[in-house]
Amino acid sequence: MAPLSDLRFPNCFLESPVRFLIMENLHTKGFYARDRRWHPAALTPGYKTSVARAPNQALVSLQAPSASELSGPDFSHLQMGPHDNDLLLNFNNTGLPIGERIIMFGRVIDQFGKPVPGTLVEMWQANAGGRYRHKNDDYLAPLDPNFGGVGRCVTDDEGYYRFRTVKPGPYPWRNGTNDWRPAHIHVSVMGPSISTRLITQMYFEGDPLIPRCPIVQTLNNPEAIETLIGVLDMSMSRPMDCLAYRFDIVVRGALQTYFENQG
Ligand SMILES: [Fe+2]
Repeated sequence: MAPLSDLRFPNCFLESPVRFLIMENLHTKGFYARDRRWHPAALTPGYKTSVARAPNQALVSLQAPSASELSGPDFSHLQMGPHDNDLLLNFNNTGLPIGERIIMFGRVIDQFGKPVPGTLVEMWQANAGGRYRHKNDDYLAPLDPNFGGVGRCVTDDEGYYRFRTVKPGPYPWRNGTNDWRPAHIHVSVMGPSISTRLITQMYFEGDPLIPRCPIVQTLNNPEAIETLIGVLDMSMSRPMDCLAYRFDIVVRGALQTYFENQG
């Protein structure tokens, strides 16, 4: 089996539609104020958990973050294990995990299209049956003895990250009477300091559960939802091996990816 590090990421990516859209905005200088309309309201009762999580008092602005909040930690020299970004191999006990083999990859960029190198990207997900390896997950689907469901990597000089894994299954959750989460992978991007950590989810192109999901519905903006969907990229698939999904993450600006911890 070819190691994930052997995967090549040709320069043709630079001409992708996503990249083109960002280039169109490169003329814009200065600071982008966050567009609050882009993000859902903190209180969205259709997503039941938001009722308890939404602030019920006025927010307090932190005017003077400390040096430690602004300056680190720096993950660029973090030593990764050989399979930290390869979920097909990082929890092997008796063999390979069950499921559709996929590559998930993309680029972390800022609002001007500039790559964000050396930033820590972490991901976690359910197995192919829709079950997490977590003590609080009691879904009927079985655990896979060869799948842990977590990975991490540091973006390269061009801002790229990549993982190899299996496509997660959808799963039901206790929200409405019969709500299901679309297949998704949770993603954390650390950014330049601990205070810039952002968390989001990648969904899969063409999944009919996406528009039915109460969490997705909190967005109320089809363009924002599009930023959360990984796009099938046959040019990066591996014949007779695995499909590939591209998920670029824009950390700020007009094209920013919606992050689930912002309200
Ligand atoms: Fe999840």
